[in-house]
Amino acid sequence: MPNAPLSHVEKRRNILVTNALPYANGPLHLGHMVGFIQADIWVRFQKLQGHNVTYVGGDDQHGTPIMLGAEKLGLTAQQLVEQTEAAHKNSLSGFNIGFDNYTGTHDDVNKTLASEIYVTLRERGHIDIRTIKQAYDEEKGMFLPDRYVKGTCPKCKSPDQYGDNCEVCGATYDTTDLIAPYSVLSGKPPVERESEHYFFKVSDFEQTLSEWKESDALQPEIANKLEEWFESGLIDWDISRDKPYWGFEIPDAPGKYFYVWLDAPIGYMASHKIHCDHSGDDWASYWESANSENTELYHFIGKDIVRFHTLFWPALLEAADYRRPSGVFVHGFLTVDGAKMSKSRGTFVMADTYLKHLNPEYLRYYYAAKLSSNVVDMDLNLDDFVARVNSDIVGKMVNIASRCAGFIVKRFDGQLAEQSAAPELHDEFVQASRRIAERYEKREFSQAMREIMALADKANQFIDEHKPWVLIKEDDKLDEVQQVCTAGINAFRSLCVYLKPVLPDLVAQAEAFLNIAPLGWSDLAQPLLSHKINKFKPLMIRIEKEAIDSMIEESKESLEVASSEKSSNESPKLNAESPLGKDPISDEINFDDFAKVDLRIARITKAEHVEGADKLLQLSLDLGGETRNVFAGIKSAYEPKQLEGKLTVMVANLAPRKMRFGVSEGMVLAAGPGGSDLYILNPEDGAKPGMRVK
Ligand code: MSP
Ligand code: ZN
Repeated sequence: MPNAPLSHVEKRRNILVTNALPYANGPLHLGHMVGFIQADIWVRFQKLQGHNVTYVGGDDQHGTPIMLGAEKLGLTAQQLVEQTEAAHKNSLSGFNIGFDNYTGTHDDVNKTLASEIYVTLRERGHIDIRTIKQAYDEEKGMFLPDRYVKGTCPKCKSPDQYGDNCEVCGATYDTTDLIAPYSVLSGKPPVERESEHYFFKVSDFEQTLSEWKESDALQPEIANKLEEWFESGLIDWDISRDKPYWGFEIPDAPGKYFYVWLDAPIGYMASHKIHCDHSGDDWASYWESANSENTELYHFIGKDIVRFHTLFWPALLEAADYRRPSGVFVHGFLTVDGAKMSKSRGTFVMADTYLKHLNPEYLRYYYAAKLSSNVVDMDLNLDDFVARVNSDIVGKMVNIASRCAGFIVKRFDGQLAEQSAAPELHDEFVQASRRIAERYEKREFSQAMREIMALADKANQFIDEHKPWVLIKEDDKLDEVQQVCTAGINAFRSLCVYLKPVLPDLVAQAEAFLNIAPLGWSDLAQPLLSHKINKFKPLMIRIEKEAIDSMIEESKESLEVASSEKSSNESPKLNAESPLGKDPISDEINFDDFAKVDLRIARITKAEHVEGADKLLQLSLDLGGETRNVFAGIKSAYEPKQLEGKLTVMVANLAPRKMRFGVSEGMVLAAGPGGSDLYILNPEDGAKPGMRVK
């Protein structure tokens, strides 16, 4: 019953929650954080209600992009997924995402589960083996997923289009229809080769799936989508890939591997199993259909992976006698300042970059203030972000405590009064509890935040009306001051309960200040009276616009290193089968645009490290008389001393750009996969500084 309102007589629920498993081929960005934060808030809310909730996740560690990505970095796939998992865990804990377990899909527990499920499917006749034709790269010795074949669009003749659809005219077609196809891995034309593939017969589950489609586990827009897929007919799902592939080998099928999307959702089960091994919880009662009547299972995912979670996944579970999810909660995509996240604008912000500059709870609050139960995209408007957090959290919520705490601590030795000056205010706060809980339950977080802030306004009004700072000057009004401030502190305490799912850190600090045990929802009823509180320290400071600016600037900087790796790929999502790292060609420019770029030979006269910059070197460039100061993202590849005296090619007419460390007056050209394999263009001597490059 995912949408049932919470009733206070309800029994303790057993709830298992998952969030989509991020691919292990890159750092987390603020788009990923939408799902993690949404699920985390919901989990913390349910825990606060006293329910038994488990939140599990992990990395999605298999597939072609990870295999090739590792190869490019000179790592084994195993090494890459281990490094990435450590980095992801670190970012997630930085945002206070409270996982009960986080284990990636390459774990043995997952291998066993995936194999068992597959064998059950096979024994029950739900697997079909068929020979299919596929593009094959003879030089690389591997079959090519659609995204790794490009060519000229058969319809509009645009070059360099992907094997399944044209980004220019929107046509969809088969890879075999491409004109002059080539492998993005070797550049050679692929050949067609036959191979046996294993298919899961999704249509065997038409009956269950159509029940599922009507159930309340799905948001209405998702149920509609499912209806469309039904109407166009359920197609069997290809679950095998040929070697070389980074994944789990299929039992009794040497050289065949599970497609990454087969073992990825099973990773939810595996991660939970590992949790149960530690906690002693009963795994079977959450998963086996015969035993699951007292448990609930919810998946939080983004809108791009709905088909896997609402079609294949329930069919797979059913096929192996596991339960269906109680709900799949789909969220939209993040945009920043109204547009897709963009590296050139600096709005493609990595989770760790954010954390260097800003408090994670600012973002948790802002997401909460914007999230609803609908599948709609969500905009992080940076000006609105600053204004909203400063006004709501700092200006309204924390302000209540800071206005009242000083008097209590200094004048009453920290002691709250025996009674509050505003029992009716307290009642109003208590009465709101049910409405707020309902909104959290239904994932209407933005409505919940609005309710909570309306209460904060009331508390501030109350303080404004009673003016403790005036009363304190009159000796006979001291009791009143104490009672007014006690009312204020109690309002603050209730707000802490309400915001605890969103701001766990701030509330933990508030609990220390209030000198109380961790708050739960049930603490709302009783006010805090005749109790000694501690000295107040500012719980959250305002967001400074400068912090945002430096975050954006730093997000641009990383592009300077990345530019040679992935020039215009601003897609926030690397599809499971997209060619990681292969340069998609940028937007076309005309000859006039190109002619404007003034490329000159320059001599590097000085190269130095930049204090506090991870990627940059500061270069002095001699253009034959004129000296330019340029910051270049090549620190990973060069020691400054190696560079001094060398010639390079620079863009000499790039508008000066203010960066965090100073103004950059041009750009040095470099190419390479990145890291230490990055090469500045280094013309032979004989070229003279200042010469134009033709
Ligand atoms: N590995 C798969 C999921 C497997 S689940 C069994 C995957 N990984 S992902 O890294 O591409 O995405 C992880 C989650 O982040 C998905 O829910 C995806 O929708 C979400 N997002 C990725 N980019 C996003 C935005 N820009 N905005 C909001 N969510 C985004 O898909
Ligand atoms: Zn086209």
